[in-house]
Amino acid sequence: MPVDAYDLTGRTAFVTGAASGIGRASAVLLARAGATVHCADRDAQGLDETATAIKDDGGTAHLHPLDVTDRARLKEAVEACGRLDIMAAVAGIMHTSTVLETRDEDLDRVLNVNFKGVLYACQEAAGSMIANGVPGSIVTMASGAIDTGGPGLLCYSAAKAAVVQLTKTLATETGPRGIRVNAVAPGWIRTPMTDRHDAAAQAHSEAAMIRRTPLGRVGEPGDIAHAVLYLASDASAFTTGQILRPNGGVAMPW
Ligand code: NAI
Repeated sequence: MPVDAYDLTGRTAFVTGAASGIGRASAVLLARAGATVHCADRDAQGLDETATAIKDDGGTAHLHPLDVTDRARLKEAVEACGRLDIMAAVAGIMHTSTVLETRDEDLDRVLNVNFKGVLYACQEAAGSMIANGVPGSIVTMASGAIDTGGPGLLCYSAAKAAVVQLTKTLATETGPRGIRVNAVAPGWIRTPMTDRHDAAAQAHSEAAMIRRTPLGRVGEPGDIAHAVLYLASDASAFTTGQILRPNGGVAMPW
């Protein structure tokens, strides 16, 4: 095993949700490790900012403004990569409503982005890796909510639980071809998503989370980008079907 198992020189990565927060930090770090990074997001301006960060760092970025629920656009973008080694399916949205207040359209919207968007990315990536004989790595983005649920988190935690089952199922199906599939389930990470959520002053605010976190702080996007890099690289060569929980030690916060 080489010492620098994190070196991604010569590899191609595709990152969804790359215009902001965890996705942007992951795209920047994968590029810094040597990968050519394809960045996808529905926020074109945010994508430009990510590309600038990667280029200022000496890396290579290609941009795909798209909605991850548009399977045809996603397929086209993944095909444009040619040989694909790494997929990081990060794009997601937050939604809060109590079980009693949850409407069909809330559930559909969250499942479409947070589950189907990840499913399409996994299908296109695994299909490409199989067709090209690439022993690639797929990383999905779950959430600490898979363990805890939480007030108002029905749609979000149900979609993330589905991502976990997708991850485990796909890992068993692609393992024999050397393709690994793992999920990251972060705790509270300070990003535009949690800034918006915190402003709503829920029971699960940032201050409340810090009190319940053994490491005494919330996470930063870079904390999760390093987990993505680990799972994307040969450093995790014998790891598949797993859920990595970078969360500061939070167990059951409610
Ligand atoms: P963010 O809001 O900063 O970034 C999410 C990105 O996804 C944005 O650039 C947004 O434009 C993009 N996106 C959303 N829907 C899309 C769609 N339909 N098509 C294309 N792009 C779309 O949020 P953050 O915090 O960086 O979240 C990234 C992922 O990490 C999400 O899946 C989230 O659920 C997950 N996560 C975040 C945690 C946190 O505390 N921030 C904790 C656990 C999981």
